[in-house]
Amino acid sequence: MAAEHFPLLRRFSALSSLQPVELCELPTPVEKFADSDLLFIKRDDLTRSDQGGNKPRKLEFVLADIRRRQANRVITMGATGTNAGVATALMCQRENLHCEVITFPQPETDIVRLNQRIMRNAGATLTARGSLFSAALNWYLHPRRLDRKSYFLYAGCSAPVATFAYVNAMLELDQQIRNGELPAPKHIVVAAGSGATVAGIIAGAALVLPQVTVHAIQVAPAKVGSFTACHPDVVSGMVDQVWRSLRNADSTLPAKCNAQWLWHEEYFGEGYGVATPDSRHAISSGGKNGLELESTYSGKAFAAALTLTRQHRQAVLFWQTFARGNEL
Ligand SMILES: Cc1ncc(COP(=O)(O)O)c(C=O)c1O
Repeated sequence: MAAEHFPLLRRFSALSSLQPVELCELPTPVEKFADSDLLFIKRDDLTRSDQGGNKPRKLEFVLADIRRRQANRVITMGATGTNAGVATALMCQRENLHCEVITFPQPETDIVRLNQRIMRNAGATLTARGSLFSAALNWYLHPRRLDRKSYFLYAGCSAPVATFAYVNAMLELDQQIRNGELPAPKHIVVAAGSGATVAGIIAGAALVLPQVTVHAIQVAPAKVGSFTACHPDVVSGMVDQVWRSLRNADSTLPAKCNAQWLWHEEYFGEGYGVATPDSRHAISSGGKNGLELESTYSGKAFAAALTLTRQHRQAVLFWQTFARGNEL
């Protein structure tokens, strides 16, 4: 296993037992946005050539968990155009695992239709439900819930082990800063859906970039029925959980993760997948400069990155988490 692929395991040798599987091409590059000296992009759209984005990083740790449990079926849920569903379906196809994706409606776009086709062509079974609540209920109360060979993968590929992926990514970023590929940012901006990506970034910031403020941009509803969904409490819980594991592996770490982070609900607008004037502007500005964004996640997060760069006049890193999948 290449040490440069998993700097997390070099820093915390006790975590080698996680046995993550190399699925990505790492490190992903960092680039300036347009001709700005302040705004940088971490190109996680390039994690894989078939479908990049933030999911393949998570699946490196999730696949290890699936193998450990000897599961032969993965059951997950997401919106009709779920990027996590696409990444999971493609991984299941490569690994010869059954894949079931329980979906809930979101506004139709070209990307939503493309993702549906990719999942079907990869052999996934798609079960459509009428609302997020009924999809979540179907996932929690699935007839295979007690089947040991079925792996229930939380929305966004966010199994508990997935958070390690973005701690690892922060150690990767730290190395890029040390190599002089970018200045140490004062702000990192990323979309928060299920929360595992930003939780890993927050825990990683406490390890290697204590001066940074992490900005979590809310892109999904805070509540689904009585469940707390896209909410800072969920992210805090994930940070605490991953920090406990890091501290078990290195008892010299402080008891609490003391990274600075802020939750932003002001970019969410009217709903999940519903574009806002700011996100439309951000998507168009990104598109003119070779940065492909969409209206559910990355458009809203990039709108925040543009605003924060203007407000603070300090180095901002936008973490690009989206990649268009390739038709099979
Ligand atoms: C493109 C994109 N960006 C960001 C996210 C949010 O990541 P997370 O679910 O880890 O918060 C997702 C997934 O849900 C996504 O598909």
